Amino acid sequence: MLRVSDLSISIGSPDNYIDIVSSVSFEIGRGEILGLVGESGCGKSMTSLAVMGLLAKGGPWVRTGRAELSGFDVIHAEPYERVEAGHGGIAMIFQEPMSSLNPVMTIGEQIEEAINVHQRVTGSRQNLTARDYLEMVRIADAAMQINAYPHQLSGGMRQRVMIAIALACQPQVLIADEPTTALDVTVQAQILSLLRELCDTLGLSILFITHDLGVVAQLVDRVAVMYAGRVVETAAVDRVFDAAAHPYTAALMSCLPDPAHRVRRLVTIPGQAAKPGQITKGCAFAPRCAYAVDICREDPLPYAMLADNHRALCLFPRGVVR
Ligand SMILES: Nc1ncnc2c1ncn2[C@@H]1O[C@H](COP(=O)(O)OP(=O)(O)OP(=O)(O)O)[C@@H](O)[C@H]1O
Ligand SMILES: [Mg+2]
Repeated sequence: MLRVSDLSISIGSPDNYIDIVSSVSFEIGRGEILGLVGESGCGKSMTSLAVMGLLAKGGPWVRTGRAELSGFDVIHAEPYERVEAGHGGIAMIFQEPMSSLNPVMTIGEQIEEAINVHQRVTGSRQNLTARDYLEMVRIADAAMQINAYPHQLSGGMRQRVMIAIALACQPQVLIADEPTTALDVTVQAQILSLLRELCDTLGLSILFITHDLGVVAQLVDRVAVMYAGRVVETAAVDRVFDAAAHPYTAALMSCLPDPAHRVRRLVTIPGQAAKPGQITKGCAFAPRCAYAVDICREDPLPYAMLADNHRALCLFPRGVVR
């Protein structure tokens, strides 16, 4: 349903630019959750902001690529064109709901606002009210809570309200950028199960951005692993955990703490993540890779196509016998 292809985001001028996101491609099917993972600064948020059309003027810009939602390129369309074409359908929720909610409006008014704006632009008749959306996101006692202000709610409830506002825009795709990082683990688990339920009942597709591999294991169907602005591996979630092909993904997995061996020292990946523009030739992970040879530092680097829609940006994917 959402197909991002060859997306590059750059800083600088068209004649002298540095890519902070480079040739990123991925797909999300109807009702599917894709986890976009990778360490801080690898380009996850930039990718999602570009797909939302939210890159500010004068900052990073889309140099190449498309993001097609049911065949319509949402990146290069004006916001009104997206909605008029019936493809307004990407909504986004962020890490800290309080900073996205209006502190002087009740949550009911804020959901109404989303319903009204959406109706005015599309002309569609919506029969659902703010209360229906609050019930949809499992807010107990919605009739009373509808008059509450954001500061009167807990962090978990505020995130539910954000999801309700997003749903009021009737999206086909929801982008969630670290939506549970600020929540404790029990509330986090509730929000994750709500998101899964919305996928199953509404056929909503979710791009879930996180660096928490525990969340990935719990929630997502497929994973795209990013490193230094590139997607280095995409696969079904089980394969990422059991048969990682890219040495970076494998190294990430080996960093996971193992509760059965509490005294074991935590493993880290040696070296530091490459900065944008630092490595322009060959594999950006080569300086930190235990398996890198001279040829890995050469251009261009092809994707290795492995089984089951599994691909890795590596000349020597692990587990593949040559
Ligand atoms: N306005 C900007 N101008 C220049 N560079 C930027 C700008 N915003 C972000 N960057 C750079 O783009 C790269 C990708 O940033 P991005 O915010 O997408 O990372 P991220 O993967 O979302 O990280 P995190 O996990 O910390 O949220 C980083 O190297 C960052 O320094
Ligand atoms: Mg981010």
